[in-house]
Amino acid sequence: MPQTVKGVISRSKGAPVELTDIVIPDPGPGEVVVDVKSCGVCHTDFHYREGGISDDYPFLLGHESAGVVSEVGEGVTNVEVGDFVILNWRAICGDCRACKRGEPWYCFATHNASQKMTLEDGTELTPALGIGSFAEKTLVAAGQCTKVDEADPAVVGLLGCGIMAGIGAAINTGEVTRGKSVAVIGCGGVGCAAIAGAALAGAGTIIAVDLDDKKLEWAKDLGATHTVNSRGLDEDGVVAAIQELTGGFGADVVIDAVGRPETWRQAFYGRDLAGTVVLVGVPTPEMELSVPLLDVFGRGGSLKSSWYGDCLPARDFPMLVDLYKQGRLPLEKFVSERIGIGDVEEAFEKMGRGEVLRSVVEF
Ligand SMILES: NC(=O)c1ccc[n+]([C@@H]2O[C@H](COP(=O)([O-])OP(=O)(O)OC[C@H]3O[C@@H](n4cnc5c(N)ncnc54)[C@H](O)[C@@H]3O)[C@@H](O)[C@H]2O)c1
Ligand SMILES: [Zn+2]
Ligand SMILES: [Zn+2]
Repeated sequence: MPQTVKGVISRSKGAPVELTDIVIPDPGPGEVVVDVKSCGVCHTDFHYREGGISDDYPFLLGHESAGVVSEVGEGVTNVEVGDFVILNWRAICGDCRACKRGEPWYCFATHNASQKMTLEDGTELTPALGIGSFAEKTLVAAGQCTKVDEADPAVVGLLGCGIMAGIGAAINTGEVTRGKSVAVIGCGGVGCAAIAGAALAGAGTIIAVDLDDKKLEWAKDLGATHTVNSRGLDEDGVVAAIQELTGGFGADVVIDAVGRPETWRQAFYGRDLAGTVVLVGVPTPEMELSVPLLDVFGRGGSLKSSWYGDCLPARDFPMLVDLYKQGRLPLEKFVSERIGIGDVEEAFEKMGRGEVLRSVVEF
């Protein structure tokens, strides 16, 4: 029987979100219904509300979640009723050109549920990132569920998006390893996660760059060895500060967790020769970049983007939950506050004012 539960929707561009009744269909073949236990408030949900991602209103927001499988459809084999899972937006297809060449973290044909969740009048909802989990229950494709060891859902659910993106930007995309020097520009949830990832991988010098001293304090707490407040510094000033902290050379890996032309250029010039730039912050459509092509050639190295931290949920989530449970990855520090399902709009405001790394809805 389809079930009616509470969910947070965005009905029209820029309007405050609404808590309303939504209908969850029975799971069809390859689908799973999950009792949502937690859902982090991510910038991407706000982008949906603002019309920055698509115009397919109404959206069912929320996507950074842990929960318990409550029903499985026909043919589901990777999870069972009662499993504790983290939801992901990279259910790999196994069959596209990326999957076939052995690089499934780039999968170009990821799975979502085929059926739609709806409003009570039958209006179809567009779930954020194919998940939609600011809701008591949600319907997803089986591959969007990754079984992990039980742990505090509010904490480990954050691996479902931004925190994984940051950790993965460092360890998967940036290939940070023992002793490397790393600089991270922008120390919100994603940048701080990149710092935690770099620390986990054994980086030597870890430089946090942000405009806000509070963020730099959090970055230090998560493993930054040095901080640079770049407010009032021009591009050369930021580059000089990074060089000064790395023997005059620049960092081996610089991660741009802001996603603006000026921060990317700081990353480009703030890295050592043959170093790596990782762009994990998401630019907006009007942004353009200009750098002398000779500098691109002459400085060598690699210029990469990181989609979802180039993660493979089935490989990375259980490993990171294990490291968290061992006390080697302080994921709990990303939870700034625990809130109710009616508090999402207020959480967007706190996010806008830079007061939180993550607000997390608990169910
Ligand atoms: N690539 C992915 O898969 C992926 C996944 C999730 C989020 N993201 C993106 O990552 C970015 C960061 O997300 P977040 O949740 O950490 O956001 P956030 O707003 O919490 O953090 C951004 C930080 O950047 C700082 N900042 C802004 N302008 C700066 C500048 N010019 N120089 C230095 N610091 C500056 C802010 O003070 C803030 O601390 C966003 O663009 C988000 O969309 C990417
Ligand atoms: Zn694929
Ligand atoms: Zn997200």
